Amino acid sequence: MIVFDQVSKQYGTRTILDNISLSVKPKEFVSIVGPSGAGKSTLIYTLIGAEKINQGSIHVDDYHVNVMSQKALQLFRRKIGIVFQDYKLLPRKNVFENIAFALETTGTPPLLIRKKVDEVLKTVGLDKIKNHFPYQLSGGEQQRAAIARALVHDPKLIVADEPTGNLDPKASDDVLNLLLKINKSGSTVLLATHDKHIVDTLQRRVVRLHDGKILSDHKKDGYDSSFN
Ligand SMILES: Nc1ncnc2c1ncn2[C@@H]1O[C@H](COP(=O)(O)OP(=O)(O)OP(=O)(O)O)[C@@H](O)[C@H]1O
Ligand SMILES: [Mg+2]
Repeated sequence: MIVFDQVSKQYGTRTILDNISLSVKPKEFVSIVGPSGAGKSTLIYTLIGAEKINQGSIHVDDYHVNVMSQKALQLFRRKIGIVFQDYKLLPRKNVFENIAFALETTGTPPLLIRKKVDEVLKTVGLDKIKNHFPYQLSGGEQQRAAIARALVHDPKLIVADEPTGNLDPKASDDVLNLLLKINKSGSTVLLATHDKHIVDTLQRRVVRLHDGKILSDHKKDGYDSSFN
């Protein structure tokens, strides 16, 4: 589903991604870990075509990401669910409207919007507070709203960059469990994090980045690739 083939990226003379080759199969749950500055976010940005690469190629299904036009990239990004550390909710819209907005921009009919938004709100456990505005929500709830927004297009791939970075341990666990649930229901998940607790807890594939290189790529004990 995702193939990085000998990808390198420089900022100026600094090499940030150094000859990265990485494949992720459909329905895998892969954590990208490594210290601050390792290149995790850069890897995610190149994957969604938000940053250009200097060498190699990146494919996501049939999309050849690193050669696509801006317009094609916009359409491509609608096929993936993207979740960031700062939730990027619209402050003047309530939870329901924030998620509905993602569908309105694609011209989805209002009745279908209502049905889909209610569905994802249930998935993330926010159906009871869908009329609340972002300032009335805890960080964990805001992140779950952001995940609902990412889910509403039924993406086959969810990409999350430090989604628990601003959350306390309980809210982090909730977000993590939600990502696992989404994965179980069939979506591929790529999670970038430096949260050691997450990595220790998750019995999933872990790719370690350091100075833009892959140090290791392990399926953790107990992980059975046929499980997913
Ligand atoms: N736009 C940019 N211009 C120049 N250098 C950049 C730019 N963006 C990132 N870098 C550098 O690239 C390196 C990797 O950054 P990146 O954000 O990918 O790290 P990270 O692994 O996500 O770190 P963190 O855990 O802190 O989020 C860092 O040294 C950073 O300073
Ligand atoms: Mg980062």
